[in-house]
Amino acid sequence: MDKLVVQGGRPLRGDIAVSGAKNSALPALAACLLTEETVTLERIPGVRDILTMQQLLEYTGATVTPSNGHLEVTTRGPLNPEAPYDLVKTMRASSLILGPLVARHGSARVSMPGGCAIGARPIDLHLMGLERLGAEIRQEHGYIEASASRGLTGGRIYFDKITVTGTEDLMMAATLAKGDTILENAAREPEVVDLAELLTKMGAVIEGAGTSVIRVRGVEALHGARHAIIPDRIEAGTYAIAAAITGGELVIRNCRPGHLGALIQKLWQAGVHVEELDACTMRVSATPTLRAQDMSTEEYPGFATDLQAQYMAMMTRADGISIIRETIFENRFMHVLELVRMGASIRIDGRQAIVAGSRKLTGAPVIASDLRASASLLLAAMAAEGETVIDRVYHLDRGYERIEEKLAGVGAVVERITD
Ligand code: EPZ
Repeated sequence: MDKLVVQGGRPLRGDIAVSGAKNSALPALAACLLTEETVTLERIPGVRDILTMQQLLEYTGATVTPSNGHLEVTTRGPLNPEAPYDLVKTMRASSLILGPLVARHGSARVSMPGGCAIGARPIDLHLMGLERLGAEIRQEHGYIEASASRGLTGGRIYFDKITVTGTEDLMMAATLAKGDTILENAAREPEVVDLAELLTKMGAVIEGAGTSVIRVRGVEALHGARHAIIPDRIEAGTYAIAAAITGGELVIRNCRPGHLGALIQKLWQAGVHVEELDACTMRVSATPTLRAQDMSTEEYPGFATDLQAQYMAMMTRADGISIIRETIFENRFMHVLELVRMGASIRIDGRQAIVAGSRKLTGAPVIASDLRASASLLLAAMAAEGETVIDRVYHLDRGYERIEEKLAGVGAVVERITD
């Protein structure tokens, strides 16, 4: 297993570029199953979850051809509508192929995802939605079997919890259903909007993506398209926090400041200067003061749960006490005890963590537990005095493309060692 060895205490300075969004590329790849024509996706990030999704598509019978930085996906001929456990257990987002397979092929057999470090993460709302569209759902031997031999029929779906991949899964399924579908209490994330843009280019008829009510008019078939994935707002937010926590200044390129309103607001309140240079670039500058600011994660456009761990690392360096509430997942404080090992003073009280800031962080051996927790530890390590060794960085590799190279390019001293 790879480790990262970080020498902390150096302010980051310079330009850093953001890759395409993992959480937009994953549903976009699943959408390729909806047509027999070729779909070309640009700005696909080179991260492990994408490789897993590629394996899933190939397992179902799609051909995935990398061509100068893009991926070309063609799903022609008989499909094998199955997602096996050994692939699904490594990536929960595998459930994104459920809707497209049922819509295109009439049936799907997808392994139940199983547990995850940050919470139970059921997919009951995905299944509820498919049933509303006329699919029959059976669960046995750890697999979900969904079938709609006469095709799906449009209907009204109300999500009693806002679910990002649930919204995406059912929006994809509805594109080939007979009649109209309404998704109510839908997720409003930019990745949902990006998927709707791809589906529209493929011939789907969708209104309201980015709002809580999405309307889809089913069509007979979808066709091929070319689409560039939006920049990764969580990667961009991670670098913005990196500038703040190390007392440096970064120009973050190929990003969308418009997707980071809640974080930018919090950074300003904490005393960090953020200047939007244009629609795709922002400069983030630390100042001598870093003020503690309470934060509560919310669905978009609220503060992203995927930036909670990184924000907490920053608050360990702020003056004062901050209360951080995690409202989306039930167990997303796995980074806390590792930050405490580095000298942070944090107390967990149910769904909230109380951070007593301005403590000096000192380097220590720590273990990553999930994707965003590993990012949090990397940020803390760059701000800490001395050396930190982060173990199990395969978690980091799931969602950040070449992150140690990018950070080394702006002054971080970070080295990857392979056991
Ligand atoms: C997506 O996960 C993201 N993953 C997650 O990013 C992100 O943390 C999450 O949305 C919230 O923003 C992808 O887009 C691939 P949810 P998803 O369904 O869709 C409950 C990362 O670090 N729920 O919006 O799985 C669920 O338990 C990852 O990149 C149900 O109860 O999250 C949670 O409490 C981590 N039943 C809440 O809803 C369901 O059927 C929100 O989950 C579905 C979800």
